This record gives sequence, structure tokens and C-alpha cells, in this order.
Amino acid sequence: MTEIKFYKKAASYWAKVPATVNGVLGGFGHISDIDIDGSRTFLNHLLSLDDPLDTKLALDCGAGVGRVSKYLLVPYFDKVDLVEQDEKFINTAAEIIGQNNVKLGTLYHKSLQKFKPDKKYDLIWCQWVLGYLTNNDLVDFLRKCSKSLAANGMIIIKENIAPAEELEYDDEDSSVTRPYKQMLTIFNEANLEIIKSEVQTGFPDDIYSVYMFALKPK
Ligand SMILES: C[S@@+](CC[C@H](N)C(=O)[O-])C[C@H]1O[C@@H](n2cnc3c(N)ncnc32)[C@H](O)[C@@H]1O
Repeated sequence: MTEIKFYKKAASYWAKVPATVNGVLGGFGHISDIDIDGSRTFLNHLLSLDDPLDTKLALDCGAGVGRVSKYLLVPYFDKVDLVEQDEKFINTAAEIIGQNNVKLGTLYHKSLQKFKPDKKYDLIWCQWVLGYLTNNDLVDFLRKCSKSLAANGMIIIKENIAPAEELEYDDEDSSVTRPYKQMLTIFNEANLEIIKSEVQTGFPDDIYSVYMFALKPK
């Protein structure tokens, strides 16, 4: 499949999905609270390290309806920017977070492969979205993110990981699930090192393992 088709197919898939938490989680809305709890514990640990990241500005990548922003990032950060390619999702995100919420920053209606961050972020959070990028675009995207980190800033990636050595393609939503080793290769190509990684616990047994990686420029 060409790159254009790969991206178009995913965008068309998400265009038909209702703008709800259950919609963006593919019918797994019931795991959202466990997911947020796990993310909070992970973030708390990073904030408790010596010389931790600041909590001024965060970026939520592939933000969907603003689930991660609202329940995880907004309580910690002074401002949260969102980037999301689906227009109805980003509009709903603004409603869910609250249009008049002083913590709601800039909403970028863009795909990650075209997005060029132009601020300095303390935290860039990428969850359940990087499988929609080709390997080359993912490395480029991570390099751009790395350059737009504030002092002590980090990138956190929370993604499904394929159980075997092979990358898995999902024809329904046009996404890939990468094996652990491939993620490491991509981080290396983007010149990022892992500060902390953890597997999310408490999820149903019949879904992919979900890993959290905290990354910093080498
Ligand atoms: C599984 S949902 C996850 C949403 C959110 N990160 C969360 O955890 O609640 C995937 C999201 O990625 C968005 N997405 C898919 N491909 C994208 C791309 N190339 N650039 C930006 N966003 C994309 C979809 O529109 C959708 O909102």
C-alpha cells in the first residue's frame, strides 16, 4: 500500500467513529480509568526524580476527544496544547476540557506527520497514535518533538506492543503495532534514550501489552 493510502484509510476510519471516549478507545471505554491511573503513577514517578520536568506546558499528540488531556495532563500542567487530525474530535476535546478553561492551550488540527511544533514543551504525550505513522515519519516526528522540549522536558509514549518480532498491520483502521525491538530501534534513530519504561497493568488479558516509555534526547 502507498503511504498516501495508508494515511487516507486511517483518516477515513476515524472520521466515522463517534466523538466519545468509548469511540476513540475502539469500544474499550471501560479501561480508560485504569489507563489514566497507570499513567498518573508513571508521571508521578518522573516528577519525583531529582531535577524533574517542569509542569508549565504539555502537548497531547493524537489527542482524540481530549481524554488524556482532561483526566491526566490538565490537573498537572499550567497549559495543555492538543494536536489531532480529526476535526470533530478536536472540537469535542475543546468542549470536554471546557472552552473557557484557562488551562486549554492551542488546538492544532493537524496530522502528526505534518505537525511542526513551534513551542517548548515540558512534556509531549503520545498515546495510541504512533501506529498511524510510517517508520520514517515516526522517526522524523520524534526528532521534531525532541527539539521542542524545554529543559528537563520529556516525551512519553504509551502504545500497544506486538507480542512477536513482527510488525502487525490492522487493515480496519490502517495502523501498525510494532514489536518492542522495533520501538527501540526507532528511539535510537531519533536519538532518544529511555529514562523509564513500564508495562501497564490491570488491562484485559486479550488485548496487546501496553508499554509506557519516558524518553529524553541522548
Ligand atoms: C486510538 S485513538 C487515541 C486517542 C487518545 N490518544 C486517547 O488515548 O484517548 C487514536 C487517535 O489518533 C488520531 N490519529 C490517527 N492518525 C493520526 C495522525 N496521522 N495524526 C494525528 N492524529 C491521528 C485519531 O484521529 C484518534 O483521535
